[in-house]
Amino acid sequence: VGLMLVASGCGGGGSSSQQAGGTKTITVKFSHVVAESTPKGQAALKFKELLESKSNGQFKVEVYPSSQLYGDPEEMEALLANNVQLIAPSATKLVGLNPAFQLVDMPFLFKNDQAAYNFYDGEYGQKLMHSLENKGILGLAWWPNGSKHFTNSKRPLKRPADFQGLKFRTQSGGVLDDQFKALGAGSQTIAFGEVYQALQNKTVDGTENTFNNIDTQKYAEVQKYMTVSYHGRIDYVVLTNTKFWNSLTEDQKKLFTECMNEATKYERKLADELNQKSFENLKNSGKMEIYTLTDADREAFVKAMQPVYDKYTDKIGKEYIEAARNSK
Ligand code: LMR
Repeated sequence: VGLMLVASGCGGGGSSSQQAGGTKTITVKFSHVVAESTPKGQAALKFKELLESKSNGQFKVEVYPSSQLYGDPEEMEALLANNVQLIAPSATKLVGLNPAFQLVDMPFLFKNDQAAYNFYDGEYGQKLMHSLENKGILGLAWWPNGSKHFTNSKRPLKRPADFQGLKFRTQSGGVLDDQFKALGAGSQTIAFGEVYQALQNKTVDGTENTFNNIDTQKYAEVQKYMTVSYHGRIDYVVLTNTKFWNSLTEDQKKLFTECMNEATKYERKLADELNQKSFENLKNSGKMEIYTLTDADREAFVKAMQPVYDKYTDKIGKEYIEAARNSK
């Protein structure tokens, strides 16, 4: 459906049309890759509800979930071309624009969810979010999902040596490749919409994602083992393009921002809740053997992954790493 709309539509979102009575309707297309029943999916719908009702119909928001309209990496090109006005990629996927976004991938960096939220709302998180403005991309909000965990089809992953010779799907970027390399495993970047099939075909043995993505993508059907590791994060940056943004009046920008802030609060409340619920679903499904890293296991992984810090601390920026590590 989404693709047909693109082909037959006006080619540009942010398109406005004249309503009877002279008011213009501004259409905002919001494209994302995950299921509707995820924190991002739900928050996108919340934003739609808020902006449409608060603007008395001046804005119309069309949300396209599950890579229906664009998958990664196409959604970024579509945003730059103003074919969509909102996307919310995981920070990792912005690595080509600014390597510092790989911060979320640095192994065992943040103490917990709250520490990540505080980092995003603080000086460095905001600086990072606004770092793409000279490329025509405006960051509007951080929408965290949560911590990642490993899954695979071959064997329980309890220690670093268990990763030897396996191949994992990554979202993008060198940090993730080097994380798996440090564990003796291979990796391949695969668009989110194609991961289930890649796991089913055994193109890769495993992947890493949040409880909620693992659950809503039904990976348990094609992955036998999950290791609860909390080793890295998947968090989103909500982005728009400057062409669309600059076409809005000051009042419209203000309303847009207000609705985005409210949707962000909603998203953060939902993120932990949905991940916990999904963890319960995964446990109850009985389809996967689940292992939780002990403190000693965790230490072994921290040590094994040290080369990632050696290689990327300067590339990402020491000040970012420190701010993230010290965040509470
Ligand atoms: C992934 O590709 O695994 C995630 O970035 C998908 C998402 O948007 O949560």
